[in-house]
Amino acid sequence: MRPETAPVIRLEDYEPAPYRIDRVDLDIQLNPKSVTVMARLAISRNEDTPAGTPLVLDGDELELTGLALDAMPLPDSAYSASHDKLTLNTPPADPFVLEIQTKIDPDANTELMGLYRSNGTYCTQCEAEGFRRITYFLDRPDILSVYTTRIEARKGDAPVLLGNGNPVDGGDVPGTDRHFAVWHDPHPKPSYLFAMVAGDLAHVDDTFTTASGKKVELKIYVEHGRQDRCAWAMDSLKRSMKWDEEVFGCEYDLDVFNIVAVSDFNMGAMENKGLNIFNDKYVLADAETATDQDYANIEAVIAHEYFHNWTGNRITCRDWFQLCLKEGLTVFRDQEFSSDMRSRAVKRISDVRLLKSHQFPEDAGPLAHPVRPRKYTEINNFYTATVYEKGAEVVRMLKTLLGDEGFKKGMDLYLERHDGEATTIEAFLVCFSEATATDLGQFARWYEQAGTPQVDVKSHYDKAAGELTLDISQSILPLPGQATSESAVIPLRFGLIGPNGEEMTPATRSGARFQDDVLVLEEQSQKVTFTGLHSRPVLSLLRGFSAPVRLEAHQSAEDLLFLARQDNDPFNRWQALQTLATHDLMRLTRAARQNEELAPNPDLVAAFGEVLLNEALDPAFRALTLQLPGEADLARDIGHDVDPDAIAAARCALRKAIGAAHCNAFKIALAAKPGGPFSPDAQSAGKRALANQALGYYAASGTQDAAEIVAAAFEEAGNMTDRIATLSLLVHEGLAGGEQALEAFRRRHEATALAMDKWFMVQATAPLSDGLERVKALTAHPLFDFANPNRVRSLVHAFATGNPTQFARKDGAGFEFVADNALAIDQRNPQVASRLLTCFRSWRALEKSRSNLAEAALQRIASAEKLSRDSRDIVDRCLQ
Ligand code: PHE
Ligand code: ZN
Repeated sequence: MRPETAPVIRLEDYEPAPYRIDRVDLDIQLNPKSVTVMARLAISRNEDTPAGTPLVLDGDELELTGLALDAMPLPDSAYSASHDKLTLNTPPADPFVLEIQTKIDPDANTELMGLYRSNGTYCTQCEAEGFRRITYFLDRPDILSVYTTRIEARKGDAPVLLGNGNPVDGGDVPGTDRHFAVWHDPHPKPSYLFAMVAGDLAHVDDTFTTASGKKVELKIYVEHGRQDRCAWAMDSLKRSMKWDEEVFGCEYDLDVFNIVAVSDFNMGAMENKGLNIFNDKYVLADAETATDQDYANIEAVIAHEYFHNWTGNRITCRDWFQLCLKEGLTVFRDQEFSSDMRSRAVKRISDVRLLKSHQFPEDAGPLAHPVRPRKYTEINNFYTATVYEKGAEVVRMLKTLLGDEGFKKGMDLYLERHDGEATTIEAFLVCFSEATATDLGQFARWYEQAGTPQVDVKSHYDKAAGELTLDISQSILPLPGQATSESAVIPLRFGLIGPNGEEMTPATRSGARFQDDVLVLEEQSQKVTFTGLHSRPVLSLLRGFSAPVRLEAHQSAEDLLFLARQDNDPFNRWQALQTLATHDLMRLTRAARQNEELAPNPDLVAAFGEVLLNEALDPAFRALTLQLPGEADLARDIGHDVDPDAIAAARCALRKAIGAAHCNAFKIALAAKPGGPFSPDAQSAGKRALANQALGYYAASGTQDAAEIVAAAFEEAGNMTDRIATLSLLVHEGLAGGEQALEAFRRRHEATALAMDKWFMVQATAPLSDGLERVKALTAHPLFDFANPNRVRSLVHAFATGNPTQFARKDGAGFEFVADNALAIDQRNPQVASRLLTCFRSWRALEKSRSNLAEAALQRIASAEKLSRDSRDIVDRCLQ
């Protein structure tokens, strides 16, 4: 851990390094408790570096055990070394070879950065700054080197030895019980893409032949006994490889592509060149242990990491401020892939839900930052929804504004011009601007400004003149460090819908730039006029969520209901009902706080029934539409003086009303599960989702036989999707049979960690009055493990983010519990702790008594004697 307060790193201070490292030859000797790393670095001085300029290499918790320059041991006076730095005082003017020997202990590495062990397997994680925990290096993404890695270990301990690139040599070490493998990666890469794995692993294999006829060996490595849960991941990989050739013209460039699944991983997965390392949650799946959502996630994450091979690896980031260059673009690419594999509409709605529930609150609170941040103290805290999800939205807007063809031209130019480079957002934008002769100067503000733009639209229809006028304005609420903002380019895809649902075409349109059905907002406020409209159109605005903004269109309930029934843009059809539900839930929340009766709007209740019964709509779409805005969504929209109990009560009342009003229809729908053997395809998944939504409403209706029906559905469940959905209902609705079901689930899945994560999560998110006590007790469960990030996330993190009434309990005990756990976790794994602490980011929006308690908890963390740089940064910003 690095408890010292860290300096602020600023984008404007970027300078190229004085030296290059052209080649890296590593010899890694693995022994339990002690690993020796021999690094031979071929270093040369950059032209404009004065000869004799000191060379300062990064380190982190390293022990230097040997040092030589051009094969000569260095005298003590020539260098200085500490655990986090190695300085050569006067390096040679001409290229030289530096040999560094370090000693590390992967067994003691609890941060899971650098070289560590997961269930006995040696593995690495180097993004963002983990390579410096393996050897001293210029550990920054603009240092591109060709790596050769020799790995040696006892054969019995680690029969499998993997590195980046292609395997070039290997065999026994004569006279010993050891063996070795040599891997060579011909593509120059930054150190954060280095990886190695060694252990006793099983694998599945397959091949893929690229468009130009090159045969690639594909392997997925897992712990023994898990091979039969790799089929979906392998299938997803092959589809990703094909799709990237077809859609982006990107071909794979090595002879092998290896994926290793490990159980202890801080993030989702890592795109190391030719050797992706995955959190096993995004690899392993079968009907018994994985839900439909898991299958969709695996498909998306496999694709995401694979797509990084071009957007991230071949073209990488000049510095960490450019993180969105690879992440925003690659998320956009994986979203497009999933849309092509599944229902585009359903994927878009799910992605926007995620953006609104994770990124919008981030962008509205103390942790807000631009898609490309300008400063950081700890880069690990910038792997955020803003960089990833909003970053993807910005790329999507670029496509909307330039059109499919313009976007393709720009991408082609980018991939060609910057191949093999470490580059910037500016260079990325120049490609699109040049390829399409478009000025993107104003567009670039999307990368610079934090905060979600608010777009306000007031419309006026003049029947006599046949004219519709829109008064549109945009603004961003002031944020810490950003008092004012400049207007953004906002593409608003729209339609004007006539009384029978037809799209109306106005005679003229003026007051803005239009591109087909996109109105491009550029000014702070604009008056837009449409003429030749002989009846009043209903405005469908922000179709497909064409820009990441909050839209206030001041539409009447009648117009929203009309859109919910008639809009042929599926996203807006979904959004219309969400908006209506949000309005009603906000009204009900106010009523709950006044202890008034909670009477949901009957038109809204009826509209949900219509959706349920509308067989013309895709089941997956219906399932999504039936889902009410979440408690956190409502808290975000309410924005201040938030009372989570009142929100929960409002939501309960609406669910109950919908359930009760359509109880028979739900009963019929819940029986409509796909028959036959389990198939993870999107169609079958959609049917399961709809049936489980129906079951949820049926349970919420309070109908007499509800508990019995849900318990029976749990018993009959033939796959994890249905099993976990029914278990959640039993536990969350407090139905009879919940405890027995938990017990049955535990017995059935005790040996499967990923399934048990779900068991913990169901209980962590139970909105029951003793929810916190249950979670506390579970931290003492024999299967709970502070060292395993997935387990921590499924209990403590899930509680903090998915159980708003218990986390924000009036007695402050929820905050204290999370604070205690964050402090404990921080001692071993700062990244997991700091991520957990982001759950406090909206504390100021809570009503006074709760926000005081949250602040006290944050203050207590801030005053802890030992706090990592990661956690310190989050807490300081939250309190700022
Ligand atoms: N680069 C990884 C991804 O987006 C995420 C990651 C970041 C993983 C940092 C580990 C550490 O796919
Ligand atoms: Zn990524």
